[in-house]
This record gives sequence, structure tokens and C-alpha cells, in this order.
Amino acid sequence: MISLYRTVLAFHVIAVISWMAGILYLFRLFVYHAQETENIVKQRFGVMENKLYKIITYPAMWVSLALGTTMIGLQPFLLETHWFRLKVVFVAFLMAATLWAGNIRHQLQENRCKISSKAFRFLNEIPTLLMIGIVLLVILKPF
Ligand code: HEM
Repeated sequence: MISLYRTVLAFHVIAVISWMAGILYLFRLFVYHAQETENIVKQRFGVMENKLYKIITYPAMWVSLALGTTMIGLQPFLLETHWFRLKVVFVAFLMAATLWAGNIRHQLQENRCKISSKAFRFLNEIPTLLMIGIVLLVILKPF
């Protein structure tokens, strides 16, 4: 029989995939946006960033959180495990990175962003590393 828990889990994974696709591509767009000099191209990057953030990344983050929280409600003992507590810490950083990206988007569009495209290339790795850490924790449950 299909359990409620596993159904919520399936939609959680779908939402997380959308969130990750959005945040990883958003940081890549920032790299190109920051190195661009032509205004018309910058504006086009701005439109792409806005749509990606507002339609996919931001809503998917809250859907992932809502479904993840639902699973905690269904299996509260998870909060007592060390691997899950560490996951929550990594997720908090990932959410902070997502909200920060929303802010950077405005700065780039208003030509007041001081971060270079080289720095964005480096910053791009942070959500990637957090994602790898979270997936290893939830799959391997190492402690
Ligand atoms: C937004 C806050 C989040 C909450 C509250 C949350 C919570 C949960 C919970 C309760 C489970 C079930 C764990 C189990 O039964 O073993 C789960 C599974 C999972 N989570 Fe999250 N999660 C969140 C974000 C994320 C993120 C950001 C990722 C990946 C980058 C992620 C990836 C996964 C994966 C792959 C599973 C499936 C593990 C399995 O196969 O059982 N989650 N999550």
C-alpha cells in the first residue's frame, strides 16, 4: 500500500529538485550578468533572473520546506537523530543563500552590485556543496 509518508516524500524530492535547479542556474546567470557590459543584454539577464526566482526557485523552496515539515510532523523522532539535525543546519544555510540571491538579483538589476563575476563563480559552489552534503546525510544517515 502507498503510504502518506512516502507520497509526501516523493513530492518533497520533486520540490527540492526544482529548488536546486533554480538556485544553481540563478548563480550561473549572476556570473554572466556581472561580466556583461551591454545594457540591453543586462536587462535580458534581469528578466531571466526574475522569472527563474519568482516562478521556480522561491516557491519551490517554500514547498520543499512545507513538505519536509509535514514529514517531521508524521515522524517526529527524526528531530532526535544527529544526521537530521545537521541536515536542518545545512538547509538553513541553503535557504539563507536563496534569500540572499533574491537580494543580489535586485542589486545587479539596479547596477549597484559590487560582486565580480569571478567571485560569483566561487559563490556558485556554496549551494552545490550544501546540496551534496544534504543528499549524503539523508541517504547515508551516517550518525
Ligand atoms: C526545506 C527544508 C527541508 C526539510 C524540513 C526536509 C525534511 C525532510 C524529511 C523529514 C525527510 C524524510 C527523511 C527520512 O524519512 O529519512 C526528507 C527526505 C529527503 N530530503 Fe529533505 N528536507 C528539507 C530540504 C531538503 C533539501 C534542500 C534537500 C536537497 C538538497 C533535501 C533532500 C532530501 C532527500 C533526497 C530526501 C529523501 C531521502 C530518502 O530517500 O529517504 N531536503 N527531507
